[in-house]
Amino acid sequence: MHITRSQTDWIARAREVLPAAGFGNFDPGIVIARGEGAKVWDEDGRDYVDYLIGSGPMLLGHGHPEVMEAVLEQLPRGMTFFANNARGIELAEAICEAVPCCEQVRFVTSGGEADMYALRLARAFTGRSKILKFEGGYHGMSAEAQMSLAPAREVNFPQAVPDSAGIPASVAEQMLIAPFNDLEAVASLMAEHDDIAAIIVEPLQRIIPPKPDFLRGLRALCDRHGVLLIFDEIVTGFRLAYGGAQERYGVVPDICTLGKIIGGGFPLAALGASAEIMAHFDKEVVGADKWLMQLGTLSGNPVAAAAGLKTMEVLKRPGQYDRLRALGTCLQEMQSTALDAVGLDHRICGDPTLFDLYFTSADPVDYRSARHDDPGRNGVYNRVLRENGVFKSPGKLYPCLALTDLDLARTVTAVSRAAEATAQAAGTA
Ligand SMILES: Cc1ncc(COP(=O)(O)O)c(C=O)c1O
Repeated sequence: MHITRSQTDWIARAREVLPAAGFGNFDPGIVIARGEGAKVWDEDGRDYVDYLIGSGPMLLGHGHPEVMEAVLEQLPRGMTFFANNARGIELAEAICEAVPCCEQVRFVTSGGEADMYALRLARAFTGRSKILKFEGGYHGMSAEAQMSLAPAREVNFPQAVPDSAGIPASVAEQMLIAPFNDLEAVASLMAEHDDIAAIIVEPLQRIIPPKPDFLRGLRALCDRHGVLLIFDEIVTGFRLAYGGAQERYGVVPDICTLGKIIGGGFPLAALGASAEIMAHFDKEVVGADKWLMQLGTLSGNPVAAAAGLKTMEVLKRPGQYDRLRALGTCLQEMQSTALDAVGLDHRICGDPTLFDLYFTSADPVDYRSARHDDPGRNGVYNRVLRENGVFKSPGKLYPCLALTDLDLARTVTAVSRAAEATAQAAGTA
């Protein structure tokens, strides 16, 4: 007998066996049963238009028929080998063809792992130890990355504040923290410190766009000081453009990290750079002292590679990015229109392919300025969106290519109800 369990049952079971009742990623008050196209269903059978899309990977939507076919073709041939395999090699070729800074890539399983190796690679290549990172920049969960992502206290730059317990104090000493979009701050840190191995940056930091000359300025400073520039393109890769943020903004880093879309919904990430830099993964070329030991059980997994390859093949077809940007622009405009109509100050922030809004009247340019005047407004807005069938994270909205006119129509209704409820709560309506 098949027993149907309610969402409440699943939430209670999760509370028993998972700390903080969940996987650590998302609100544990919802349990997803399935996804199809641009929609997901919870365990009570309620459906939502999905603007979370797995935190980014499902750019084509859930269960894209061509991606499913590629995965189903691979499955009976084997799920993982540890050894080189053809799908993984093809995926490496496709990435190197698409992404300007990549002559070679190394596969790993998660984005955070790719970032960790990127930092180590920069240190191996330059023989220097310090890393310059931006306040509020997210680069996974390594000790270095967990510095001043969401600092619990405001300190003076360039001091690093650990975001997590369990990180040795010595790690903070290796980090320099700067405000995003502040080229002068970066220039003066680089003038003061001659032991910086790399700058790591999200080219679009969370949802804050770079000022017009910021990335170009970082490139020039790195060139002047012999520092490597790392673009964390885990989110922006194959989203802002087929060649990622480096194509969209026209600035080529020394190293980039990729994840999410390149695994087509399966666990796969990569870091890539010139053959000269990537040679540090080859002991024969650089010798034992300069070699980076690197391996992982699931690296280059053939099922993930097949899904990623097919996803990229679909994305490469003419018109896909135009359509994605048009969908994003439409979603941005619909929210602005609804919020203007109820008189709520706000800023839509990001790129049409990834954005959200702040309830503020100031333009967000860095971590400290990217905030809601009243965070309660964002809470109400997102709660009412969810109640009206829109599923998103409270800080990001990802459009996907599977969105239909019906999904958009449903979103318009949800947005106008959420705007009205927020205005009522704020006392402006
Ligand atoms: C910019 C950025 N870097 C790194 C990561 C970490 O990737 P993963 O969750 O695959 O470890 C993420 C994840 O959202 C990210 O957005």
